[in-house]
Amino acid sequence: MSVLAICGSPSSTSINRRLLHAALSMLPAGTEVDEVWVRELDLPLYSPDHEREHGFPADALALRKRLEAASVVVLASPEHNGSMPAMLKNAIDWLSRTPREGRFFARPVALLATSPGGRGGSTNLGALTSVMPHWGAEVLGGFSLPSFRSSFDAETGVVQDADRAAELAALMALVAARG
Ligand SMILES: Cc1cc2nc3c(=O)[nH]c(=O)nc-3n(C[C@H](O)[C@H](O)[C@H](O)COP(=O)(O)O)c2cc1C
Repeated sequence: MSVLAICGSPSSTSINRRLLHAALSMLPAGTEVDEVWVRELDLPLYSPDHEREHGFPADALALRKRLEAASVVVLASPEHNGSMPAMLKNAIDWLSRTPREGRFFARPVALLATSPGGRGGSTNLGALTSVMPHWGAEVLGGFSLPSFRSSFDAETGVVQDADRAAELAALMALVAARG
């Protein structure tokens, strides 16, 4: 099984990346994980003019290959003004333009979100859950962790509350089953 783990945060101190790692640690030992952090991709801001004049950036083509090599995706994304961060959207827009067979994100996906506030990025989680099937994705489920500072143990890197940790483990079991 091979998992593509995507962190959609542009921040070097991303709390969504910490949640992503906590979730990945719940996968069976030996699971192959390829981690993409959108801030590490070298992608100009998408425009049709750029595509026409320069073609596809190497990292857009590489992202296409990395997605196709994976059997399932885990996407952890912060919420920026009720939506996904622009850096993640830019990567998605490039990905949607790369040559392929079929729909551009034809993979099962588990969605994760956290925020320092009480809503845990749930508006964006809902938006992604609605839109991703239009990209070809099969949404396995979503997990939102509100109030990150008090809900996540920074020392051990685990979700504090037992019920919430069990909810995340159940979602990751679905991921493992699709590998
Ligand atoms: C431009 C911007 C917009 C934001 N908009 C929201 C928002 O709509 N809802 C929310 O709960 N938090 C919002 N936040 C706060 C983020 O949830 C917070 O910065 C969080 O740490 C981002 O996760 P990250 O550390 O993984 O990047 C916003 C932050 C930024 C920088």
